[in-house]
Amino acid sequence: MGNIRTNYEKWYDSDEYYWGTEPGDFLDRLISLRSCEIAPKVLDIGCGEGKDAVYMAEKGYDVTAFDITENGIKKTIKLANDRGVKVNAYVDDINTFETEECFDIIYSTGTVQYLFDENKKNFFEKLDRITNLHGIVYLNVFVEKPFLELPPDWDIEEKMWRSGELFTFLSDWKVLDIEEVIFEDNSGGIPHFHCMDTIICEKMQ
Ligand SMILES: C[S@@+](CC[C@H](N)C(=O)[O-])C[C@H]1O[C@@H](n2cnc3c(N)ncnc32)[C@H](O)[C@@H]1O
Repeated sequence: MGNIRTNYEKWYDSDEYYWGTEPGDFLDRLISLRSCEIAPKVLDIGCGEGKDAVYMAEKGYDVTAFDITENGIKKTIKLANDRGVKVNAYVDDINTFETEECFDIIYSTGTVQYLFDENKKNFFEKLDRITNLHGIVYLNVFVEKPFLELPPDWDIEEKMWRSGELFTFLSDWKVLDIEEVIFEDNSGGIPHFHCMDTIICEKMQ
């Protein structure tokens, strides 16, 4: 294992699933927007230990998923095998990943704030290139607020975004939903607050 760029590598180094194995609620919204009748292709960027990728595969989607952690990818593949489904899971970096494929659904939760500033423009151009026409993109990102402290489990390469910044990169898409919420979280064992911006949008051209 090379240079460790995220604390998640050690947090995932256990038989326990750090994030559990239950999928995020947002996936059912995505499923309602693109049903699995034609086995749509899905990309999960920063899949962690695979709870969401495996859920989508169980629902009949053709799922590709990557994360920067080797331990996360091993657990994603194990969870898929345990559940009798296939996920094309591999180690990659949100900053530099490349793919020849196009997708009908692309989502990333809890990972976009690992994009370095100099890679943001390129990332959104890439998203546009690899999303099929009428494909759906779901992204969320942690946002800085002067009245909130940095979370205790803030990671090595994470960087807060400005409120609304995420929406500006996707302003030419059809926006289906945007929201900014502040919520309490207990990840890392110490209660704290996050502010999060979320967008769901559709590629129209
Ligand atoms: C908050 S966790 C979310 C994991 C997963 N999406 C979930 O909801 O269970 C953030 C994830 O980003 C991954 N990560 C950190 N830096 C990354 C990078 N440069 N490229 C890809 N993934 C990265 C971490 O390993 C971690 O799995």
